[in-house]
Formats: sequence, C-alpha cells, structure tokens
Amino acid sequence: MCGIIGFVGELDSGGQTDGGTTGSVGAIIHEGLRNLEYRGYDSAGVALVGASSGLTVAKRSGEVDGLTVPDVPDATHGVGHTRWSTHGPPTDANAHPHTDCVGDVAVVHNGIVENYEALKKELADHEFTSDTDTEVIPHLIEEELAAGAGGEEDGKEGDADLLAAVRRVEDRLEGSYAICAVREGDDRIVVARRGSPLVLGRGENAAFVASDVTAFLEHTRDVTYLEDGDVAALSPDGVEVFARGEPVEREIERVTWEADAAEKGGYEHYMRKEIHEQPESLRQTLAGRLDVSAGDVDLDVSFPPGFLADLEEIRIVACGTSYYAGRYAAQLFEELAGVRATVEIASEYEFGAGRTPDRTLVVAVTQSGETADTLGAVRRANAAGARTFAVTNTLGSTVTREVDGTAFIRAGPEIGVAATKTFASQVATLAMLAVAVGRDRGALAAADARSVLKDLQGLPGAVQQVLDEEEQVREAAREYGDGEAFFFVGRALGVPVALEGALKLKEISYDHAEGFAAGELKHGPLALVTPDTPVLAVLTDGARAAETMNNVTEAQTRGAPALGCVSAGDTYDTLDVSFEVPNVGVVEPLVANVYLQLFAYHVANDKGRAIDKPRNLAKSVTVE
Ligand code: F6R
Repeated sequence: MCGIIGFVGELDSGGQTDGGTTGSVGAIIHEGLRNLEYRGYDSAGVALVGASSGLTVAKRSGEVDGLTVPDVPDATHGVGHTRWSTHGPPTDANAHPHTDCVGDVAVVHNGIVENYEALKKELADHEFTSDTDTEVIPHLIEEELAAGAGGEEDGKEGDADLLAAVRRVEDRLEGSYAICAVREGDDRIVVARRGSPLVLGRGENAAFVASDVTAFLEHTRDVTYLEDGDVAALSPDGVEVFARGEPVEREIERVTWEADAAEKGGYEHYMRKEIHEQPESLRQTLAGRLDVSAGDVDLDVSFPPGFLADLEEIRIVACGTSYYAGRYAAQLFEELAGVRATVEIASEYEFGAGRTPDRTLVVAVTQSGETADTLGAVRRANAAGARTFAVTNTLGSTVTREVDGTAFIRAGPEIGVAATKTFASQVATLAMLAVAVGRDRGALAAADARSVLKDLQGLPGAVQQVLDEEEQVREAAREYGDGEAFFFVGRALGVPVALEGALKLKEISYDHAEGFAAGELKHGPLALVTPDTPVLAVLTDGARAAETMNNVTEAQTRGAPALGCVSAGDTYDTLDVSFEVPNVGVVEPLVANVYLQLFAYHVANDKGRAIDKPRNLAKSVTVE
C-alpha cells in the first residue's frame, strides 16, 4: 500500500486554491504526502512540471518530512508518492517517481504490476535504475510516445499524446494499480485506476488526485471516486474521465467529514478503517503470487536444493495475533504440505530435544518484525543450527536481517494497536507458503493446489461481502455487548479464529473474553456459562461446523445466547444470530474472523473505549 497525490492548478498571487490554503505546487503536494503517510513511510518523492523549467524530480528513502521538495517557481503541476515497499528494499533508487530514459516522463504508482518481469524483458534496450515493478510504466509510456500514440499512429494529426500513451500502456499491465503520470511540455496529469483506490478532488481552477481524500481535504471537499478501468486527464481547465476510451461523467460528491475523521479516511478509528481495508490489503498480499492454472505459487523465496523434500518439521514461533495466524497455518502445512507443523509461543520457545536442526524450518510470524520475544526465539533457533524464515509486514525490520529467508505479507502500515488486516494477510501468505512447500515436496497434487488457490483468489471479495453486512454486526453488538463474559469457540481452523476473536474483544473492549476449542467447553469452561455469557461460534467449512454446533447447543441449554458465523447455504435454526460467510473453502474461517473483528469493534465503540490505543498495550513490544 502506497500513497499517491497529484495537483494541477492555477494559484492566485498568494498561492491560494479554492479552499484558501496557501502554498506552491510543491508545498501542496508535500502536505498531501504528510496526510498520506499512514499508507507507507519507506520513501517519498515528488515530480514537478514547470512551464519553462521542465521536469524536476526529487526522492529519497525515509519519511516524508525528510524529503526536501525543490523550489520550482514556475511549477504548474506535479505528483508525489509515499512508499510501502513491496518490490525492492526502501532505497533512494526505489523511491517513486520513476522516469523514462528520455527523462521527460515521471510516474507514481500504488499497487503491483504482476507481469513486470515479462515487460522488463520486452524493454531490453531500456536502462533501468531500480528494482521496482513500477519502473516499467514510464518506459512503456516512452515507447508508446515514440510510436506516436494519439498522433499519426492513431490516424490523427499532431504529436504523440500522454493520455493516449497511458491508455495503451494500461492494456499491457496485469495486476492492480493506481498510476499518475506527468510529462514535460504537457499541462496535464494523466491517471488510471484498476484495483487500487484513486479519488479526484475538484477545485476552482484546480484539480487533485490521490489515493484517498485525506491528501487534499484542506483544499476541496468536492470529490469524484474513479471506477476500475477509468483513465482521467486533469488540467487547470478541469477533469476529463474516460472508460473504455469513451468520455464518461462521474458523480461529484461532497465530503462532510471533519478534519480529525479525515485523517482516518472518514472512519472514527484506524482499527475500523483497517478492518475495511482488508479487501485491498489482501489483494496486495496475493498480487502476482498465484498461478491458479498451474496450481503454483511464486513467493519469491528459495530454499537449498533438497531441503524441503527432507523437511522433518516446520516450527512456527510468534506472539499474540501472529501466534494465532501461526496456529491457522500449522494446520494448513500439515494438510497441504504433508509435514509435521508445530506452533510455539515465541517467549516459550526452545529448540528442544529429539529434533534435527538441519531438517527443521523455524518460521517467525511477526507483523512488526521487531517483537523482542519473537527475535529471541529466532536467535535460539539460529544458535541451534535450524534454518529460519520470517513472515512479516515490515521490510528492513530486525527479523529480516536475522533469518535465512523472508516472505512479506504486504498489508501496508497498520496503525491501530489491535492487529486486524495484518492477521488476514499473515494467514493468506502462510497459506501460499504451505501450497509452495506442498508442491515442492510432491505432497500436493496440482488439482488440489488449484482448489486452494481459487479459495485464496476469492478471499478479498468474500471479505468485502462480510464488510457489507456491518450493520447486522452493529445490531448484534448492541444487543449482546453487555454480556458478563464472552466465549468464542470453534474446531480445527475455527480454533485459532476463536482465540483471535476473543483476543480482539478483550484488547479493545476490556471485557472478559476467552477462546476455546469447542470440544473443550464441556471439560470445564461450561461451568462459567450463564444467560449473561454470549457464545460466538465459527461454524464454517474447515471448522467442523456440525460438531461445533453440538457444543454450542450445550451452552444454549445453560441459557447462553449463541451467535454463529455460518457457511452460506447452511442453516442452524437455533442460533440467536447467524452471520453468513461466503463459500471459500479453507479460508472461510479467516473470513468469519472479519465478523468477529467488527463485533469487537462495535462492542468497544458502544462502550466508548480508546479503540486505537487500548490501555496498557503497545503496537510493537520490544521488551522480553
Ligand atoms: C493483538 C496484537 C498483538 C501482536 C503481538 C505480536 O492485536 O497486535 O498480539 O500480534 O504483539 O506482534 P508482531 O506481530 O509485531 O510480532
């Protein structure tokens, strides 16, 4: 997840836009980047176009405030970018904007160009200066301009044209993206959207484009949300939007949020925003990694020859939410990769007797990559001679420097202390790793792999369907949120989700909540069940729903209300509330988890809790 912004405008002598804020083009873009920094802070950059000064690019690794935006007094428009690294480490060279060989086109991009390696081969005579997928875009634009796109090449009079070139490049890109392109000598910003968000801000004699309205809300509240497949040209004269090459009218909406809410994209809390970002963050997690027809995965990781075939055990180490992601994954490793998989709370981990170091893979799951307990476990595993691997959200984090290999979950920055979107992306990444290991070991047939990959492909859409049902969860939270305690239950893949659901609720609402393997209820916890203890159950595919329902019924017999996340097509008439989970096979419990996230959020919100910063907790725990 990256943040992009563009501004084109006619400023009065004080540099005012219609919103009354003063500043040069560069200053407006710089401010917009500060507002977008929640989307990424690995590097920042701008490209400014001046009437006579041409194209000026400035970029560097590090946070937005560390970027010196050049003074370009005749700048008429420009674009800016703040990066969350996916392809290539956070270096100056990998910072956006990227330019073509001629040096007159600059592009910023959010998303992933899945076919960039193939495109790079086609552009063999171009000189590349970064490791990013993005850099192919300005070079492709350069080619299309050289070929006369929009001019003679298209049977028209006149010179090649940036808008026509971007349209043609779009046809060659696979993946999800939002791009903004500028060209020296052209007074427009040309933008395109497919799969990644892009919104236009409409001012008087000024136009903005950004990943979200937060970037420019201080200047204008009149916005147009672009749709997938839209291409638009922004100039001081206004905005033209095209769909499939034809001009289209898109609605202008008025944003009514206040500034504080705007920072959170209109949501009251980062946590709710991050819950709602999951379709996008999951798309990013999966982008370019699934080859469904071949039943294969490309996670860009490698192991020594024969290592996976000889593997005796995968041992996952992690804390908190990441530990529950690990528990979900361990079941997938056993089922899909045919290898023993165990999970250990990182602070409890020791290499242990009876294990063979060079046939053990220790996988550290950590969003931050900085959790002291998890780093300690990695160090103990390294000292024992085991091969170590990290699954993390954070490029350049300590864990990545201490392990033998890393897979990035690409969820984008998470600000709310309670982990939400990173849990989903951790499980999705580990599921892909399980398929990759299974295929490598010959333990997983291509047809079975295809079925899992199809489930993964359906994940972002399924999560969106759950998010669309938020009102139902809000009502349930209102009705059952005053319980004395809350019990979350599930079986198989439903157990880690029950544990995670309980953790989310206790973290942010301060209510007593516990997660159990459903079969365990009758071995003790049932003594706590009363009409004041709602039971929330995972009743989906992969979670042995029918057996779990038997245990739910035992709790209901003691008077407990029961709320269930149920696979679409199934019904349990006795449930007090039934949340429908779309059919996506092994990731159904993960989708059910989104209902539990929303339940925790609304219970806590109704109680007026400090949701983004719960008492006594920190986002990254760097002490043992
Ligand atoms: C819970 C939560 C924590 C973290 C845990 C590990 O919502 O966020 O339980 O999951 O502190 O953190 P990472 O994943 O950064 O190692």
